[in-house]
Amino acid sequence: MARAVVVGSGSEIAPTRVSNEQMARIMDTSDEWIRERSGVEARHFATPEIATSDLGAAAATKALQAAGVAGDEVDMVIFATMTPDHYFPGCGTLLQAKLGLREVPCFDIRQQCSGFLYGLQLADAQIRAGMARTVLLVGAEVHLGFMPWTRENFAYATGQSQVPPTREEWDWNSRFRHLVVLFGDAGAAVVLRAAEDGARGVIDHELHGSGADYQKLYVPGTGFRHRPYTDPEQFRRGDHIPVMDGRHVFKMATSCMVEVARSVLQKNGVRAEELKLVLMHQANKRINEHCAKVLGLREEQVPHNIHKYGNTTAATIPLLWDECVRDGRLQPGDLVLMVAFGAGMTWGASLVRA
Ligand code: ACO
Repeated sequence: MARAVVVGSGSEIAPTRVSNEQMARIMDTSDEWIRERSGVEARHFATPEIATSDLGAAAATKALQAAGVAGDEVDMVIFATMTPDHYFPGCGTLLQAKLGLREVPCFDIRQQCSGFLYGLQLADAQIRAGMARTVLLVGAEVHLGFMPWTRENFAYATGQSQVPPTREEWDWNSRFRHLVVLFGDAGAAVVLRAAEDGARGVIDHELHGSGADYQKLYVPGTGFRHRPYTDPEQFRRGDHIPVMDGRHVFKMATSCMVEVARSVLQKNGVRAEELKLVLMHQANKRINEHCAKVLGLREEQVPHNIHKYGNTTAATIPLLWDECVRDGRLQPGDLVLMVAFGAGMTWGASLVRA
């Protein structure tokens, strides 16, 4: 049976780099706290004219080039994001139009930080079923719209304005400090193709979802549970900004990621030391260090890039994949495990022969 093989990858980082020190100009935080608690040193944010589909389209163009695949050959698009350009339609068809692809099926995936792995499972299933031969899988986010600060505050943080936040603005920004320092904007994409030889490709997946604790990480406002779905009161309360119980998410992420990684390895008779790389979702470096330790992984097996980009949600794993390909750490034939945990709650792992 044909399996999905990653034949090319590409990524696009948003242009405005913001260091921890710059974040500390507009809220009560510090480089030391952010670095120690999360591993993040800087993140990049989009400029006003850049939307999620733009970062996705730029990354997808590079992935197609790297794969040597023409746009006309793509026969399915899968776009994972929790920050779509519009409430509807999703980013899948927007990307199709921006790249001038044929009028192929376009799926929108919204499993937040697990979105890429949910998309990978779908792509692989479509390829195994013979429904598609070349799939463009994209993960991209522009989190900037979730951020509590004003444009003027942001300009002050980046040195474009001399006007500091008012006391009220400073307190408002600081209310969300445990969340907003973690995220950054980026897009990343892979091209998947059907391969018959069996030597390379996706080997196995395991995905999970559990909604019991969804309110530990969610956006309380701007949803159709409200009528109208958005109103000024919600913005005054800050209900458009995610709520996150960091400690709860931290505990759940560490246990679920270890469990699902072990399960996939066990089912496929693979020992942790046989893996060339383990690409973990980049939400917090401490979560990944904990998982790596419990799974008995060596340091060189677990690449990180959270220090440069923060948590780019659906883009973290393909971004890490792309970086490792470009710097030579990931070669065709290498055995790779990908593991993620995100809002929903959702989590999963995929075992792949690159
Ligand atoms: N700067 C300075 N101090 C801060 C900041 C900040 N940015 N944020 C919180 N603090 C303070 C708190 O107010 C608290 O102060 P107190 O002790 O006086 O009350 C103290 O630091 C400790 O706060 P905790 O929340 O307990 O800190 P913790 O060590 O748990 O780190 C963090 C917080 C980084 C959020 C961590 O819990 C975490 O990473 N959790 C998981 C996040 C995650 O994985 N999210 C999922 C992905 S997102 C998605 O799927 C959409």
